[in-house]
Amino acid sequence: CGIVGYIGYNDSKEILLKGLEKLEYRGYDSAGIAVINNDGVRIFKEKGRIADLREAVDNNVEANTGIGHTRWATHGVPSKTNSHPHQSDSARFTLVHNGVIENYDLLKREYLQKVTLKSETDTEVIVQLVELFVNDGLTVEEAFRKTLTLLHGSYALALIDEQDKETIYVAKNKSPLLVGLGFGFNVVASDAMAMLQVTDKYVELMDKEMVLVKKDEVTIQNLNGDVINREPYTAELDASDIEKGTYPHYMLKEIDEQPAVMRKIIQNYQNDSGELQIDQDILSAMNDSDRIYIIAAGTSYHAGLVGKQFLERMAQIPVEVHISSEFGYNMPLLSKKPLFIFISQSGETADSRQVLVQIKEMGHKSLTITNVQGSTLSREADYTLLLHAGPEIAVASTKAYTAQLAVLAILAEVTAKSRDIEVPFSLVQELGIVANAMEVLRDSKEEFEAIAREYLSVTRNCFFIGRGIDFYVGLEGALKLKEISYIQAEGFAGGELKHGTIALIEEGTPVIALATQKFVNLSIRGNVKEVVARGANPCIISMDGLNTDEDRFVIPEVHELLTPLISVVPMQLISYYAALHRDCDVDKPRNLAKSVTVE
Ligand code: G6P
Repeated sequence: CGIVGYIGYNDSKEILLKGLEKLEYRGYDSAGIAVINNDGVRIFKEKGRIADLREAVDNNVEANTGIGHTRWATHGVPSKTNSHPHQSDSARFTLVHNGVIENYDLLKREYLQKVTLKSETDTEVIVQLVELFVNDGLTVEEAFRKTLTLLHGSYALALIDEQDKETIYVAKNKSPLLVGLGFGFNVVASDAMAMLQVTDKYVELMDKEMVLVKKDEVTIQNLNGDVINREPYTAELDASDIEKGTYPHYMLKEIDEQPAVMRKIIQNYQNDSGELQIDQDILSAMNDSDRIYIIAAGTSYHAGLVGKQFLERMAQIPVEVHISSEFGYNMPLLSKKPLFIFISQSGETADSRQVLVQIKEMGHKSLTITNVQGSTLSREADYTLLLHAGPEIAVASTKAYTAQLAVLAILAEVTAKSRDIEVPFSLVQELGIVANAMEVLRDSKEEFEAIAREYLSVTRNCFFIGRGIDFYVGLEGALKLKEISYIQAEGFAGGELKHGTIALIEEGTPVIALATQKFVNLSIRGNVKEVVARGANPCIISMDGLNTDEDRFVIPEVHELLTPLISVVPMQLISYYAALHRDCDVDKPRNLAKSVTVE
């Protein structure tokens, strides 16, 4: 979900629609725009895709000011009524909003008893409050500010007033929002990608700031009305990075980019003499800590599980890995000197951010590992390590996961060396081998397509099993498959399956088993026998050197600790083809959002 806005001399419709298309990757279920000209405000909204919204837009309307929105339902089902923009009672004010207003019910009861609300959303309450306060005699700016001071929760907002087409009122708290600067025009966007079409100069907004955006002026204020001056920055995004090129889907393009990403990471983390290096402050924070707490969600959480192995085995620091949405209220007993590592592709995940806010209040240090420079988690943590994976557009994360693993491995190795712990291999060399092995897999697509067709064309479920580090890759494999093909998939520790879940194995149930770890090779193969005895259709993916005749695919050999970087690629490709065979929308799976900015 995301928001856009444009104010200037050109027609805003196309710029808004293009902007929304660029935000499509974040996931949404409805979209809308509102534009304003001398005839007043026109709203166009549709449930479904931006393409549907395009159809609904009246091309005869020309307007130099407008706001737009993609919605990922939180309060109220996806529908045309619930989709944004929302209007106040008299239709004077029109608003788009990302985030969740936690006290909207209270505000409704306290202030809006006399107003008949048109939708079930928390958003409508905001726009109705602005109108109420204007009717009470405040100026629009004052009414907007007063409304903001009453809101509890997260928001990125853009509001227009039918009586003033020269201003967009903007505000932010916890949800991402930027103002983009142009010559004779200015824009608003949830992320720079949306408006890269018109400008690469952006100003960051901080929480609890409001902005008056005019075509040749941008005024940032805090909620006391004090004006804040902030320098713009240049978004270093290559517009071609966010194009699909000749690929049918972003996901496939991003899977294929993985070898290049590995090489880019090595380059970015190498010093002039070819050694891997990490900022000294980060190393000191690592060495000062007696325990690391990794906090993450979704795929990033799975990367954290593997990261724990890297950090414990190489740097010998104890690590705990936690799901961010649980950690806030279910905090473990912390060690004396904890260091928090937040792993997040987008750097915006609200669940992770609420933990960061809490641990900062407690006085603990934090490091964010993210793909997005300047993202909220990066700005607010003490330190940042970047993934250098380039924009990831497909909702299902692929190259960001392998990039997270590579950066975690580098962090582990450099920390180990700084503690005089010997790492018995050259990570630069091993990551180079990983990149080459990824290329071999990239060239084996037909085999993964065949596996997807054979095992996953008709099945309703699928299991992934592995032991040790392979178990974690199985979790990620199952998540990938669920996300994009909607096949019910679960990852299990090989030895645990027999303690309950094996009851689900029926004649033909696909079981994908990973066998890349020498010390458990026999045990995982034993687990495969157990499921085969109950009718399962096994698909063993093993590593060269550990393979047997029964294996369906053999991945090239890489260092035993780094196998997740390689063994996940078959998982990604099998999921991709399974989704294709089932006619699913690979890049934009139902119900999911790329960047979940609500808790
Ligand atoms: C969403 C996405 C997942 C992603 C998770 C964490 O749920 O759909 O693909 O893994 O958020 O995102 P982050 O940006 O924090 O890594």
